[in-house]
Amino acid sequence: MTILRYCRQIRARSGGAACRALSTAAVEDGLSDASSALIELEDKYGAHVSLLDMRVSRIAESQVERRIGIERQIINFCNYYPNEPTALRFLLTKGEGTRVWDVDGREYFDFLSAYSAVNQGHCHPKIIGALVEQAQQMTLTSRAFHNDCLGEYVEFVTRYFGFDRVLPMNTGVEGGETAIKLARKWGYEVKGIPKDKARVLFAESNFWGRTLAAVSSSSDPTAYTGFGPFMPGCEFPRLCVSFLFAHALTPSCALTRIIETISVSMVPYNNLDAIEDEFKRDGDNIAAFMVEPIQGEAGVVVPADGYMSELKKLCTSYNVLLIADEVQTGLGRTGHRLAVDYDACKPDILVLGKALSGGVFPVSAVLTSDEVMLTLKPGEHGSTYGGNPLACKVATAAIEVLRDEKLAENSASRGEQLRSGLRSMEGSTSIKEVRGRGLLNAMVIDQPAMGYGDQGKAWDVCLKMKENGLLAKPTHGNIIRFAPPLTITKAEIDQCLDIIDRSVRQVG
Ligand SMILES: Cc1ncc(COP(=O)(O)O)c(C=O)c1O
Repeated sequence: MTILRYCRQIRARSGGAACRALSTAAVEDGLSDASSALIELEDKYGAHVSLLDMRVSRIAESQVERRIGIERQIINFCNYYPNEPTALRFLLTKGEGTRVWDVDGREYFDFLSAYSAVNQGHCHPKIIGALVEQAQQMTLTSRAFHNDCLGEYVEFVTRYFGFDRVLPMNTGVEGGETAIKLARKWGYEVKGIPKDKARVLFAESNFWGRTLAAVSSSSDPTAYTGFGPFMPGCEFPRLCVSFLFAHALTPSCALTRIIETISVSMVPYNNLDAIEDEFKRDGDNIAAFMVEPIQGEAGVVVPADGYMSELKKLCTSYNVLLIADEVQTGLGRTGHRLAVDYDACKPDILVLGKALSGGVFPVSAVLTSDEVMLTLKPGEHGSTYGGNPLACKVATAAIEVLRDEKLAENSASRGEQLRSGLRSMEGSTSIKEVRGRGLLNAMVIDQPAMGYGDQGKAWDVCLKMKENGLLAKPTHGNIIRFAPPLTITKAEIDQCLDIIDRSVRQVG
């Protein structure tokens, strides 16, 4: 069934007018039958109901305010989902280096790189070579037995990043969970925090995944709404009536309580005074502060120079572990081997993921000192696939590619080139701000900053860029993230700047 037929059916269901605009857009976008059919399979059997379906049926209720609210909600939860029902509904089938192709043969520059997982470029031959070679030998062994790949890998990765030990996991969010477990264990066994009192602090607008601990510590209502009860000790207080009832609070003491709880659960990003206040207030129970050196999903929020090194000093003086979540910023993305290197900061715990396998499959790692890691005893943590032979070989190859091809260095210089090109468009176009480090950048479009993923001029710019051969997506309303593979060349950046310039001007 094509999108056109689909829209006709929905039109019949919704009374017609509601989906006219959408069906027209789908047709105008020229989605091929092949693409439509495959996307429909995702809609029918995947976890997400089609946005088109959800949106059209809600529009049919013809409540404009409700519709806007629902659209925001729908688009909010989809930061990993192709969140446009028409023009960005297409299927990618091939990737090579900095480019990807759709099933209809159209070629694009990939300026999202699977949220910084494909730093080494799509299907890097050395990484794929390591994968294929190991896959023909042995893919997984029970962790009850040793294999001949893990030892070499853990030595390589710890030496490369300068830590005593590594705990191999799979996804980025498991890396975060592992870091928090380690911090709590260290808190009890080394710092002497009383039983079940250990707290881990987070920065507002953090993003570290979708598990219950991750959503418990999120300040984004889209991430946590409907998933309570939340995890004690990393919980962000939700300002809701049930909160007041649950704590039997009168309005005035509720306010005090809410303010107090907010101040203890989460600190503003890039604000050293706030964290020091919290350390002073309850430092004895705080095991760790977990933070991204640049907040990626929040819209490439770059803190002041020295933020990470000052944080490290503060944490050290209050005997609190600093956990750097470098799942998105690490591995060359910001023009350094790690983003913390920019401030010459060495965190107590480092979490890596995404590009640790060059986008080949999920591989993550938590690196730390003997003092922290050895608080874990056999049987207390692990994962069936963590440290599997395939992952060991792939991650080694992925790091070697970053090192041997000097991709952090390339990221630094190509990032400069990209930002200065974008900045030269400020003033004569709707670009009002350009920020970032290395090849993790954001371009802010001059339009009211609306909710996460709201459609507006930034969205139109993304659609135009797609038409012109470059894929990117807003992270928040008017903020478009640019994170191409780090293998991108000078000539390619020039080509991409040309596409961006043309697209921004076409949108006006
Ligand atoms: C900073 C950060 N940490 C953790 C994660 C979670 O990684 P994963 O999706 O592999 O679980 C992400 C994902 O975008 C991230 O950006």
